Amino acid sequence: MDKEYENIKIHTEDGITFVSLNRPDKRNAMSPALHYDMEDALIRLADDSETKVLVLTGEGEAWCAGQDLKLYFRETYNNPAERKRSNTASHHWRWEMLSRYSKPTIAMVNGYCFGGAFTQLCACDFAIAADDAVFGLSEVNWGIIPGGLVSWNLTDTMLPRHALYYAVTGEPFTGKRAEEIGLINFSVPKDQLRERTLELARKLTKLNPGVVRYTREAVKAVRRMGPVEARDYLGSKQDSLQKADKEIADRVGMKEFLDQKSYRPGLGPYERPKQD
Ligand code: COA
Repeated sequence: MDKEYENIKIHTEDGITFVSLNRPDKRNAMSPALHYDMEDALIRLADDSETKVLVLTGEGEAWCAGQDLKLYFRETYNNPAERKRSNTASHHWRWEMLSRYSKPTIAMVNGYCFGGAFTQLCACDFAIAADDAVFGLSEVNWGIIPGGLVSWNLTDTMLPRHALYYAVTGEPFTGKRAEEIGLINFSVPKDQLRERTLELARKLTKLNPGVVRYTREAVKAVRRMGPVEARDYLGSKQDSLQKADKEIADRVGMKEFLDQKSYRPGLGPYERPKQD
């Protein structure tokens, strides 16, 4: 995508688009202007044919130090119209868009991740962090609760006791600990972070995008359903996938397993036939 932004950087290579929050001097704290940039960029990238997988990261030492306490909170205190506008944009890109994005998303957590940043962390499909990245629910120190959607994100992603412990104490924790408590998929030494993220991203670009999208949507949606609703929903979802998916992946894969005996799902992911 050729558009340039003041508060974010975008770089695409081999179908993988890195979107970096770019306020390193402010540890990538989220100002209203950054929210507007991110909202615009995510809308554009959703339709960008070069982007197959989106990686969200940060420039410099931080992934994101949360909402900008000065520009997002203090300076909009007496400007309710701006507060409302930036709050809407903030929620729109961090949760409404990212949690249901049309392409797979990976949070690549290179450093500090605080407060409001947990929302986009939890919205991304996958999260990989540097072992020494520092996570923190610092709200308690400001006399506020993890608001916006953060408290909900925590209990939705982590076991409730861990969510409560870190929210109430405000104690920071590392990438390694974030893996142990299920907040991220895994942590790696910092010098391997980019390569390990690319490894996962490349794997995702090789899969059938329609099947991946429907699977992501299905797994997320059934979480809040009972078994009866879920079964009904999954049946309809499968029907609509079959109608929508040009490659008819289930039949192609099955043919290769049952007839041609050229593919064993237990030995590795399905390699799509070459696309034109
Ligand atoms: N809002 C506004 N500004 C922030 C910020 C935030 N959330 N986080 C960092 N900054 C600013 C600092 O004020 C400082 O600005 P200055 O250079 O104009 O003084 C700059 O970013 C660098 O921060 P600094 O604290 O000097 O960097 P550090 O590397 O020593 O520490 C952190 C990094 C992230 C540990 C520390 O900045 C911090 O604790 N930030 C607050 C994080 C937070 O609680 N976020 C949740 C908000 S609800």
